[in-house]
Amino acid sequence: MTAERLDGKRVAAEIRQEVAADVAEFVASGGPTPCLAAVLVGEDPASQVYVRNKARACEKAGIDGRTHRLSADVGQTELLRLIAELNADPSVHGILVQLPLPDSSYDERAILDAVDPLKDVDAFSPINVGLLMQGRPRFLPCTPHGIVQLLGRYQLSVAGKRVCVVGRSDIVGKPMAMMLAQRTGTCGPEIANATVTLAHSRTADLGDVCRQADCLIAAVGRPEMITGDMIKPGAVVIDVGINRVGDKLVGDVAYDQACEVASAITPVPGGVGPLTIAMLLHNTLIAAKLQRS
Ligand code: GUN
Repeated sequence: MTAERLDGKRVAAEIRQEVAADVAEFVASGGPTPCLAAVLVGEDPASQVYVRNKARACEKAGIDGRTHRLSADVGQTELLRLIAELNADPSVHGILVQLPLPDSSYDERAILDAVDPLKDVDAFSPINVGLLMQGRPRFLPCTPHGIVQLLGRYQLSVAGKRVCVVGRSDIVGKPMAMMLAQRTGTCGPEIANATVTLAHSRTADLGDVCRQADCLIAAVGRPEMITGDMIKPGAVVIDVGINRVGDKLVGDVAYDQACEVASAITPVPGGVGPLTIAMLLHNTLIAAKLQRS
């Protein structure tokens, strides 16, 4: 079998166009120009690229994308002061603190908790995580939401199917598992009612667990950890990993092997990555709408 390539780049472009149209309509109806403030602390090259890409994507969607660059040694107090300013600024609708923060002198939890939940477009705050758990989300976290959109737009239903999420991060694994298992309509029209296994690096017999899955979502951050023999023939494989190996980017899935077994698979790059930014734009518009009412 040669797997169908799920083109995240194409789907992300489609969503970005839709968001741009919705932003134009919102502004034409008298709404404020949605504004996303990204906070970048330090010089991490990958984070600089992400933040630059976010700013460009905002501009193309008609969203005001502001970037606040702070030096790595600015410290917790100064960073909290900036977040408080952005919380209080009515022209800012979404706030994103780019992770990872440069070093352990920052209390990451306290910084993310300081973001006003109504401006928390990453959906990292305990309130937004709790609302998702309860099946009444305000914002859906961007990467899992991108995956939901990709599956939905390729009409790959997970209802009643076994889905295995490998990786238990707060950003991807945990919310992804929760979203897939929700009741119909909670996280969009398509994605619900899956039977979900949340596996991780310490799962015993991980290969056996993965091989049960009709849909396998790899978000562990370990290059090519999911090999072809861990995939059920005909499964849909979503690779969230972006790992730098030498001068190459590789996913958490051994792509060539997986292509022989899976029915559909996301490439790296060009799979899940572009969807995260598209859903961030979507959340910024939602934030602007929430703050208008
Ligand atoms: N760093 C890597 N992914 C993300 C993300 O989704 N949000 C933020 N704020 N930082 C990240």
